[in-house]
Amino acid sequence: MLKIVVLVSGGGTNLQAIIDAISNHILDAKIESVIADRECYGLERARLAGIPEYLVDRKVEKQNLCTKVDELISPDCDLIVLAGFLSILDSGFIAAWQGKIINIHPSLLPKFGGSGMWGMNVHRAVVAAGEIKSGCTVHYVVDEIDGGDIILQTEVPVLASDKPEDVQKRVLSVEHSTLVAAIKNLIK
Ligand code: GRF
Repeated sequence: MLKIVVLVSGGGTNLQAIIDAISNHILDAKIESVIADRECYGLERARLAGIPEYLVDRKVEKQNLCTKVDELISPDCDLIVLAGFLSILDSGFIAAWQGKIINIHPSLLPKFGGSGMWGMNVHRAVVAAGEIKSGCTVHYVVDEIDGGDIILQTEVPVLASDKPEDVQKRVLSVEHSTLVAAIKNLIK
């Protein structure tokens, strides 16, 4: 059984997708813990599911954030999933967990990735560029923002009438199944 730690900063709908996939026996995995870098609903989702949850406040820990997060992760953890985690992991943390950290990003990488490309910034940029499609990408995390090998992508259309919020909703609607499918591929 795959031992997973999930890192969150927000609403945690991707975390919920993993929780549900495990309950429904779609994923043979266990979430060992959920770690957040700020108070967020993702922590509440962990509490409701009976999963150990920890807050490592980025404003308190600052430079120590990655060390504190690392201390909470058991050495036998198989996979660290960044599910809307907004802090940047340092190169020491990434090296220590090389090949075991994955992220979900709300665009078709390598398009609309990199520094500053998070949340609504991504969807605003997609609309401003007149893209006719967007989507999400699950990828390995390396020491370059959004730069690691791609595991799985799902496309969605972008309509001429779309506002960034419309693109965000459409992309989020495919993120959950994409993340679960990517983890399932890794289990295989
Ligand atoms: C998602 O759009 C994800 O791609 C991005 O942050 C958002 C997190 O959403 N990295 P949620 O917290 O899982 O609902």
